[in-house]
This record gives sequence, C-alpha cells and structure tokens, in this order.
Amino acid sequence: ETVEWEAASYDMGGHDTYMHKEISEQPDAVDRVLRGRIDDRFSTVHLGGLNLDAREARSIRRIKILGCGTSYHAGLIGASLIEGMARIPADAEPASEFRYRNPVVDPDTLYIAVSQSGETYDVLAAVQELKRKGARVLGVVNVVGSAIAREADGGVYVHAGPEVCVVSTKCFTNTVVAFALLALHLGRIRDLSVTDGKRIIEGLRKLPGQIEEILKTEDEIKKLAKEYAGAQSMMFIGRVRGYPVALEASLKLKEISYIHAEAYPASELKHGPLALIEPALPTVAIVPDDDLLEKNRAALEEIKARSGRILAVAHQPQEKADHTIVVPKNEDELDPILMGIPLQLLAYHTALAMGRDIDKPRNLAKSVTVE
Ligand code: G6P
Repeated sequence: ETVEWEAASYDMGGHDTYMHKEISEQPDAVDRVLRGRIDDRFSTVHLGGLNLDAREARSIRRIKILGCGTSYHAGLIGASLIEGMARIPADAEPASEFRYRNPVVDPDTLYIAVSQSGETYDVLAAVQELKRKGARVLGVVNVVGSAIAREADGGVYVHAGPEVCVVSTKCFTNTVVAFALLALHLGRIRDLSVTDGKRIIEGLRKLPGQIEEILKTEDEIKKLAKEYAGAQSMMFIGRVRGYPVALEASLKLKEISYIHAEAYPASELKHGPLALIEPALPTVAIVPDDDLLEKNRAALEEIKARSGRILAVAHQPQEKADHTIVVPKNEDELDPILMGIPLQLLAYHTALAMGRDIDKPRNLAKSVTVE
C-alpha cells in the first residue's frame, strides 16, 4: 500500500518530468537547508530543533543512522561526515535490517532516523522500538510534522520542499547537507577546530553555485547517456567517501532505467568483480582529487587493462577513462554532495533515451507505509 501524492497540485514549471524539475531545483534547495543556520562568530551552525545540549552532545559515544533506500545512502554519507568532523564512531544501516535483528540498544548511542516522507514504516517501527527501549532518537526528515518527525526527540529538517518523483534527488542532496550541518555542530562542540569549522562553512556556502555549474553540463551528460542506454548492466565504484555515491548512483539508474547496476567499493574490485569486467560492462568511477586519488587511478588502470569502458566523475580529466565528467572541487568532506549530481542526470537521460516512465517507475512507490 502506498501514499498517493496529489501530483496534479504541483506545478511542473516548464519541465517534462518532476524528476528533472527536482534535479534543477537543487541550488535553491541547498540554499534553503543552509539558510539561517550558519553562525560565523563561532564557526558552527545552529540547529533549532535538535533538543540536545552541549553536555549531552559530548556524552554521545556512538551514532547509528537508520533509513531505507536513498535515505539509507544519505545516512551512509552522513555517518562518514559525522565520524570525520566530530570523531564520533558512526555508521548507517537499513532500518528494516536493524529492526529484525534484535539490536543491542545502547544508552550512550545517539540514533538518527532518516526519511524524506517521514512515514516509511520500517523506519517508523525502528524509531518506536528504540523509543520503547529508552534510546534517544533524532530525525533527519523532509516532511514537516510527519510521523517520524513527531516520534523523534528532536532533529534537523531537510527543507528540500515537496518531492513528487518517486525517486529522490533533491531530498537526497539536502539530507546530506543537513548531515554536514549536524556533523559541523557536533564537531565544534567536541574537537573540530575553529579553522576547520570556517573551512567547512566556506565549502557549504559554495555548494549552490557549484551545483549550478554542474547542471550546466547537462547537454554533455545527455550525450553520454545515449551511449550507455544500450548497456545490459553497469558497474559503479567508489572508495571510502565515494562508495555511498556509487551506491546511490547505481540505485538511481536501476530505479528509473531498469538497467542492472551494481556498486562496489573500488578496493574490493580485485576480490571478485574484476572477473566481470569486459567491454560490454561499463564502469562509472567516482574519482575525487583527494588523498586516495592515486589508489583510484590504479583501479581505473585495472579496468582499462581488461578493456572495460570507463566513465569517471572527477575533478580533472582522467587519462584512463573513456569520458570524464569534471565537477568543481569543494572541501574533501563535501565532495560527495557534488559528485552525485551529474549521476542523477546520467540516470535521468539514460532512462529518457530508453523511453521509461521516469516519475513513476514500475513496481515502486514514493512512500512505503506498510510492512
Ligand atoms: C521508497 C522509495 C525510495 C525511498 C525510500 C525511503 O522505497 O521508492 O525512493 O528512498 O522509500 O523513503 P523515505 O521517504 O523514508 O526517505
């Protein structure tokens, strides 16, 4: 059973699909999640609904993030942002897996439920079980006043605005930005320096303009998509920060084009998936210009040596790749936010070239509110 959105009540604003509209809205959406929250004086952010004072924030020993689908992927990036900036051990898990494995609920762990709709049953049930066991639960939610937002002890609203397309784009991006804000906030209460706080804030402020720049490369991505539209299957690889980007990009492609896609950590290629590499299996590689660049380049070489086709998303053209989509560089921590965006467009134009029903893919619902 699903919640039907009154799609007709939302204007498409000249776009052919809601997905395209929502991808295009991302500069404004990111602007909204940042608005009013940055505190330059203390190089931190204010999150009004958190309900967590500094003493409580300091006593958190671990963070566990729960969500489904795209929200789970946003949670994976969120975990790495929090661990990186606040140095609190953090990880993400699909909410449904969590609730069925009788998890140890620990009083020093902060639980964070992520959901666009705020109504996904698996997430809500996990939150209710956690609350029943006395845990503290925050929500990172888009829909204000939704069930998960109400059940949680506090949280951060994502402010992406209404998302109509079944697959999530702008809400994914905004959720990751919301996590960056939370990570900065927790980091500045703990050991993140003023200098690093400033650096992250500058990076956050650059995001809307940089997303704007990426959106201008749409024609180039559209051409690439036509080439990949015939593929039977595609491989997505990324390393550490890039891995959740690969997971989300592969999910997006599967959901709307129905092309089989698999995401793998680049480091795991040699432990199995390399056996699949041949000209008929293109690889999309996330190759940020950070301390892992050389490692990632080595993975591209391994693929090229097996005649695999490569599309890289990188900060500079990659010699081993057949094509590189070049995206603007931000702070290393924030790069995943930007690297996902051209791959939303790639999935979109691939599905379009294949004549798919992009806003309403078969067998899927925007919000799954039952078991
Ligand atoms: C459904 C949608 C996905 C979405 C997931 C979680 O499966 O098809 O696109 O990511 O639910 O939704 P939520 O509203 O909790 O973020």
